[in-house]
Amino acid sequence: MTENNVVISKGLEGVFISDTTLCKIDGSKGKLWYRGYPIEVLAEKSNYEEVAYLLLYGKLPTKKELSTFEDRLKDEREVSEEIQTIIKTFAGKSHPNDVLRTCVSALSAYDEDMSDRSNDANMERAIKLIAKMPTIVAMIGRQNRGKEFIAPRNDLGHSENFLYMLTGKKPDEESARLIDLMFILHAEHGSNASTFSTLVTGSTLSDVYSAVVAGISTLRGPLHGGADEAALKMMKAIGEPDNTESYIESALEGKQRIMGFGHRVYKAYDPRAKVVYNYLKTFMKTTTDEHVEKLLEIAIRAEKLMEEKLSKTKGIWPNIDFFAGPLYTAMDIPSDLFTPIFASSRMAGWTAHLFEYWTNNRLFRPLDNYVGELDLKYVDISKR
Ligand SMILES: CC(C)(COP(=O)(O)OP(=O)(O)OC[C@H]1O[C@@H](n2cnc3c(N)ncnc32)[C@H](O)[C@@H]1OP(=O)(O)O)[C@@H](O)C(=O)NCCC(=O)NCCS
Repeated sequence: MTENNVVISKGLEGVFISDTTLCKIDGSKGKLWYRGYPIEVLAEKSNYEEVAYLLLYGKLPTKKELSTFEDRLKDEREVSEEIQTIIKTFAGKSHPNDVLRTCVSALSAYDEDMSDRSNDANMERAIKLIAKMPTIVAMIGRQNRGKEFIAPRNDLGHSENFLYMLTGKKPDEESARLIDLMFILHAEHGSNASTFSTLVTGSTLSDVYSAVVAGISTLRGPLHGGADEAALKMMKAIGEPDNTESYIESALEGKQRIMGFGHRVYKAYDPRAKVVYNYLKTFMKTTTDEHVEKLLEIAIRAEKLMEEKLSKTKGIWPNIDFFAGPLYTAMDIPSDLFTPIFASSRMAGWTAHLFEYWTNNRLFRPLDNYVGELDLKYVDISKR
């Protein structure tokens, strides 16, 4: 409350911006539903394509609908020579998320009729974006490692094909399932910062590309999608599992944030993190890579310590980003691709929210409370 009786909700905490049928988060119980389906059920039974369909069309597809949708995505996986040139020009100079943002921005140049704002045209745009994002991200990863690009394979599923295009190897069953799981778990999450900025841009009746470029940009920061990269950086700095407790304790004493913990909405265990945590434990038993083994152990020990220190007392639980790093490392994914992968998966949620918002659009235009001086005397520049 200020002098003028203005209530400021910093970070828009507690502010509802619209009705939605896309996603429900129960932050106090640690529950999440996409279009009414519990996340645990979708994680176990669906694939990413089915989840993307559910988000975009509002219902689970029939077999035929799913296969048509999958075929459309496959048809759109390739990217033009010019997009490949952008990647070759900027990869290595800018963070992969920035290169991705530039490529997605450039995709609007291939839109046959930007003035067509019909639902069908917008859905086509969403399909193209969802299909092309993993190709672009894989190409950025290849370019950064000095390797040739790999063309998509139409006999592979969406996320499995991504891993193939990145690593050059057809993933084994376990990795294919895990990457798909990560895509499912990152596909949607209410009006988080990046979805909100997508909506803010969309609310001006701007276009799909501009709106999702805003989303990609917003996702980049370590308080949001960049947290998994930051969390892995911390695990690498910890180095040895036996250093975990002392490192975290001294970080907390120094009032540092532990990346991958805490959430504006969840004051209980993030249900997506729970799903991933179970995988982590399975991976622990099977991995033979010493480096991955260490990271997994550090993650598990950090989770245990944080539970004692902060989770139960302050409601700061692990979020999905905490466990992503060791698992992605096990799949040979470099840490600077974590956020672009998140963006690829979230494209379904961003576009679905945008289309829902446009059915009842209202320009976002909040207020700020002016606390400066007024009617100051203007002094000519020669006399200042
Ligand atoms: C996500 C996040 C920004 C949400 O925070 P928020 O709702 O704005 O909450 P606040 O920043 O107001 O934090 C509330 C309190 O919890 C503490 N806190 C929050 N997250 C923390 C973390 N990761 N590690 C240590 N302390 C944390 C804050 O220091 C603050 O303590 P105080 O009340 O003693 O000052 C925050 O938890 C965070 O920075 N987490 C790390 C980044 C991350 O993992 N982001 C991905 C989210 S999916």
